[in-house]
Amino acid sequence: MATSKSFNIAIIGGGISGLTLAIGLLQHNISITIYEAAPHFGEIGAGVAFGPNAVLAMKKISPTITAAFDKCKTVNQGPSKANSWFTIRVGDARKADADGFVKPGVKVGDAWYDVELDTDRGNGGVYRAHFLDELVKAIPDGVAQFGKKLKHLKIVDDGSRDVICTFEDGTHARHNAVIGCDGIKATTRRWLLGEDDPAAKAVFSGKYAYRGLIPSEEATEMLGEEVAQNSSFFFGYHGHLLTFPIEQGKTMNVVAFASCKEWKHDQWVIRTSKEDMNADFAEWGPHVQKIVHAMQKPDIWALFYHLPCDTYYKGRVCLLGDAAHASTPHQGAGAGACIEDSLFMSELLKEVEKKEDIERAFKAFDEVRRPRTQKIVKTSEEAGRLYEFELLGDDLDKIEQNQTKRQRWIWDYDVDEELARAKSIYHSSSAQA
Ligand SMILES: Cc1cc2nc3c(=O)[nH]c(=O)nc-3n(C[C@H](O)[C@H](O)[C@H](O)COP(=O)(O)OP(=O)(O)OC[C@H]3O[C@@H](n4cnc5c(N)ncnc54)[C@H](O)[C@@H]3O)c2cc1C
Ligand SMILES: *[C@@H]1O[C@H](CO)[C@@H](O)[C@H](O)[C@H]1NC(C)=O
Ligand SMILES: *[C@@H]1O[C@H](CO)[C@@H](O)[C@H](O)[C@H]1NC(C)=O
Repeated sequence: MATSKSFNIAIIGGGISGLTLAIGLLQHNISITIYEAAPHFGEIGAGVAFGPNAVLAMKKISPTITAAFDKCKTVNQGPSKANSWFTIRVGDARKADADGFVKPGVKVGDAWYDVELDTDRGNGGVYRAHFLDELVKAIPDGVAQFGKKLKHLKIVDDGSRDVICTFEDGTHARHNAVIGCDGIKATTRRWLLGEDDPAAKAVFSGKYAYRGLIPSEEATEMLGEEVAQNSSFFFGYHGHLLTFPIEQGKTMNVVAFASCKEWKHDQWVIRTSKEDMNADFAEWGPHVQKIVHAMQKPDIWALFYHLPCDTYYKGRVCLLGDAAHASTPHQGAGAGACIEDSLFMSELLKEVEKKEDIERAFKAFDEVRRPRTQKIVKTSEEAGRLYEFELLGDDLDKIEQNQTKRQRWIWDYDVDEELARAKSIYHSSSAQA
């Protein structure tokens, strides 16, 4: 076995980012400790989708992650849908003419067009909790500490530039570097950017979501096999709804989006009533009405995202995943960006010999990853408005033209070229030093 690196790293947070990063760093014999606020690894969240870029990043970090994903994933079923990401439909009855048509030959709820995706490259949806369970199996005992909610960070001024983490329970830990994987409400982000930076805290996107799971049998009875077993978007005015199969096709995952001007609650997830949920979709067509009426637990999730910040690192503290670039979910690309981050961070830290060089690895990470991930956040927020007839109005031809190709750049990311660029930034800056 190769000898361990001479430095150690604290990972704050054990979600998809923290765990995939941990698996990557352990492969390179880097000593790590995960500090997780919760008493155990998280159970929250419903379906999460990954595109080919994310699947490739998993494979490049470790076969363990691919195996975990393969065990949990569900892809579209029918052969005719093999190269489709989602089928797009208009779900809102207000868009229809007197005969129910939204455009020649297409009625409310009918398939309008498909967004193509080369599924040979891998993609699929997972139930977040199951995926995390599988990832956790790859983390050796003793690496993670629970009930450790980070409160504050301090760069030690004794010349070492080490970082002291202070936790809510009053304990401290000293590490050579800290990677903040603490999600959209990250403490590491607020510390790094400062409370006065408008980008320090996430902002409300004007949209909220109902998330629900419907057993496939029930969905098939209600909607027919084509809709129940495939992935669909239903577009409409100031709202949209999407469905995709998870758990090997046993469950239909539903996310239904609606809009409001501001979010007045402290909580981002609140309980609402079935009446309010049904009212949000009262003027939609029969497919959407049936789906919404079948959803059991009407919890609303307010959708927040991060405004672009000027840096992802300060000293030997770096942000990664949602802590760096929390996104609205409208392109299904947020968690994939986290896994790409983990790959880049692992590969860069693999190059590092001594702790003094870690900051330059963070600099290379920032330079290569920040533009891409911030663009994902921006185009995702726009996509939400596009689906809800707010970006290009309700002109269906314009929407179709704009939407079919808008995600290619995310899926077609040239990981090898970008990894080579990141490493060359790291090595050239270390040559100068
Ligand atoms: C409605 C919705 C739908 C989504 N759909 C998709 C999708 O289809 N495709 C996609 O790619 N992405 C999707 N996402 C985004 C995706 O879920 C996130 O990008 C991803 O889960 C973020 O992972 P993370 O590990 O960075 O953060 P998190 O999952 O938030 O994990 C952060 C961890 O840090 C811990 N923590 C927090 N604060 C502290 C602290 N102070 N100290 C110690 N630990 C702390 C938390 O307990 C948690 O375990 C969606 C998100 C939402 C809200
Ligand atoms: C998915 O949709 C296609 C056509 O739109 C259909 O042929 C296929 O059977 C559907 N899949 C399932 C499992 O029903
Ligand atoms: C879609 O429309 C937006 C807003 O007009 C524009 O910024 C974007 O470049 C368009 N994208 C494509 C792929 O046409």
